[in-house]
Amino acid sequence: MSINKLKIGVIGAGSISDMHFESYSKQADAQLVAVCDLNRTRAEEKAAKYGIAQIYTDYHELLANPEIDAVSICTWNNTHAEISIAALRAGKNVLVEKPLCKTVEEANRIQEAVRESGKTLQVGFVRRYDANAQLVKQFIDNGTLGELYYAKASCLRRLGNPGGWFADVERSGGGPLIDIGVHVIDLCWYLMGRPKPISVSGNTYNKLGNRPNIRNLSFYQAADYDAAHNTVEDMANALIRFENGASLLVDVSFTLHAQKDEIAVKLYGDKGGVEVEPELLFVTEMQDTIVNVAPQVDSKSLNVVDAFNNEIKHFLECCRTGNTPISPVEDGVTMMKILCGIYESAASGREISL
Ligand SMILES: NC(=O)c1ccc[n+]([C@@H]2O[C@H](COP(=O)([O-])OP(=O)(O)OC[C@H]3O[C@@H](n4cnc5c(N)ncnc54)[C@H](O)[C@@H]3O)[C@@H](O)[C@H]2O)c1
Repeated sequence: MSINKLKIGVIGAGSISDMHFESYSKQADAQLVAVCDLNRTRAEEKAAKYGIAQIYTDYHELLANPEIDAVSICTWNNTHAEISIAALRAGKNVLVEKPLCKTVEEANRIQEAVRESGKTLQVGFVRRYDANAQLVKQFIDNGTLGELYYAKASCLRRLGNPGGWFADVERSGGGPLIDIGVHVIDLCWYLMGRPKPISVSGNTYNKLGNRPNIRNLSFYQAADYDAAHNTVEDMANALIRFENGASLLVDVSFTLHAQKDEIAVKLYGDKGGVEVEPELLFVTEMQDTIVNVAPQVDSKSLNVVDAFNNEIKHFLECCRTGNTPISPVEDGVTMMKILCGIYESAASGREISL
């Protein structure tokens, strides 16, 4: 039986777009038909690599093509809102990369456009789609950890300001907090059952800059890397309080005098705890004894390729069924309130009520 394939356009053909192209290519019910990038050469390269017929440099033209059912938005953060809203109004389903956008005001406008259009919008909180995250969610939903009251998220790079648009606050909206912090904050919040955040207290630091002086240690640099341009924080930390009394402590950096990079996603309940990162592990009591329980799974930490496959598969399902995605626009809005609240708290030096 022939399948009616969903026709897909990808807007933004930079680094992360490959994960989207690869994942769509593996799905029997999807067909990549269009690619758009401001940089035509980049769009042409992806079109050649993935056998895509239509190439655009203006996303409005891509959206005007009635054949296209859904788009992935993989552009700079400052364009997520305008492209998402235009796509929804053009009747397209939208998978938008994290963060949803740059401001709460933009987030609210996107949410309104989702409501008005009745189309699907899925936020690319890819860590939610990892097999281990879903396994932990199942344990939590079944009460294995009891009431979760504390979580801790870290994503520390000791040398890793990618430069380019990532280091330009106008295009990115911020540094490590909005770029990599968003992933670990979101994962904790999702696994905690998405309690309502009531206040945030944060600090940001611009102490080390992007460290162009460092030799002998290489790191990822954006295509338009320019050591002279850096307007984002190099480190942030925050305490997020929730209505149910739970709290989340987070620290993130693009650069820090740390011995090594560090990633941690840890949740603590009154019946047990779990470390999702750096290595999946449950901690509980058995026979009045504390036991560390290591689930036997294929991958002990995030499997990026599988997580993206799951994310895209879920998006296609939601496009077909109209079901609400497991990372809906509402969660993107709440995450923008948390992130922007942290930046506001850091700027004003006081706790912010959300
Ligand atoms: N989910 C993840 O793990 C993950 C990882 C990396 C990046 N991201 C997100 O993906 C997005 C892109 O990041 P990247 O690392 O691929 O950046 P990138 O710089 O490699 O690519 C971005 C591309 O978007 C293009 N672009 C910008 N504005 C455009 C517009 N208006 N129309 C068409 N093209 C436009 C640029 O020319 C560039 O080629 C960001 O929002 C980032 O936060 C997500």
